[in-house]
Amino acid sequence: MLNDLDSIKSLAGEEIEKADSLKAVQDLKVRYLGKKGIITGKIKSLAAIAKEDRREYGKSLNDVKIYIEELLGVREKACKAVELNKTLQIQRIDVTIPGYRIPAGHLHPTTQVLGEIIGIFTSLGFHVEEGPEVELDFYNFEALNMPKEHPARDMQDTFYISDDVVLRTHTSPVQVRVMQNNTPPLRVIAPGKVYRCDADVTHIPMFHQLEGFMVDKHITMSHLKGVLEVFIQRVFGADTKLRFRPSFFPFTEPSAEIDISCVICRGAGCNVCKNTGWLEILGAGMINPRVFEMAGYDPAQYTGFAFGMGIERVAMLKYGIDDIRLFYENDKRFLDQF
Ligand code: DAH
Repeated sequence: MLNDLDSIKSLAGEEIEKADSLKAVQDLKVRYLGKKGIITGKIKSLAAIAKEDRREYGKSLNDVKIYIEELLGVREKACKAVELNKTLQIQRIDVTIPGYRIPAGHLHPTTQVLGEIIGIFTSLGFHVEEGPEVELDFYNFEALNMPKEHPARDMQDTFYISDDVVLRTHTSPVQVRVMQNNTPPLRVIAPGKVYRCDADVTHIPMFHQLEGFMVDKHITMSHLKGVLEVFIQRVFGADTKLRFRPSFFPFTEPSAEIDISCVICRGAGCNVCKNTGWLEILGAGMINPRVFEMAGYDPAQYTGFAFGMGIERVAMLKYGIDDIRLFYENDKRFLDQF
């Protein structure tokens, strides 16, 4: 009868020795020691054994049980170690591999160019003022010498909020607001968003302008020329030429449109400058006495110059961009270039 215990013992020994995974060890545990396991079965059948044999058989059975438990324990430990090693191999971290870079954003090209322009003017003693984007008709037009029904209003396709309120079509209204609240001398730039009901390759409904003006006694057009020359040559290079062309704006008299020598062909003639050698860059002039009056200044006492430019236009010429809409389509392939 004890023979069957010997064969169980040796079979278990062989099987446990061959178990090569935690799962296999677990299965053997169930097979021998589980509720319906071989050893458990033998223990249950003890009652059926003749009394005189029971004691010895029970002791041997218990020895086999302990033997199997120990073997399983050893095997389980070994398999655990093997599996841990495997996972360590797979999940090994190589601390010498360079880290993953989180891509950092950067300033929008419009903001970059605006920052550069502001830097140039502040170095010349100008300071920055801002005005509202939702503006009264009075500041956007009336105070700038464009009364209602004035044909010059047609030059700017306006978004009207109501009869008296508009989305500002330019930054010029800041001139009047600043003059109303300050006394000369004034050296001010006013950057910001402006709005026009207009859309094509060179026009979008929202874009940025920068207004500049200087007001004091005895300010002349030569001051304007000096300031603009420094500005243009710092942005586009020291060999860039300026040209003042007579023009008309209701808020300046005389008025000029300022061209720069073509930044692409340097004056030789190309597509961008339409073979003229010149590019239109900004509007300017001497502040109209009517504007001074509207702002509460005595035009007999003060003179001043003003100018206004489109920031996207400056950026387009600086970087050779041919479609203004690219700025606001948020195509990363475009934006990443700046
Ligand atoms: N406000 C004008 C526009 O948006 C630009 C301009 C022209 C501004 C002449 C000025 C100026 O200050 O003197 O078309």
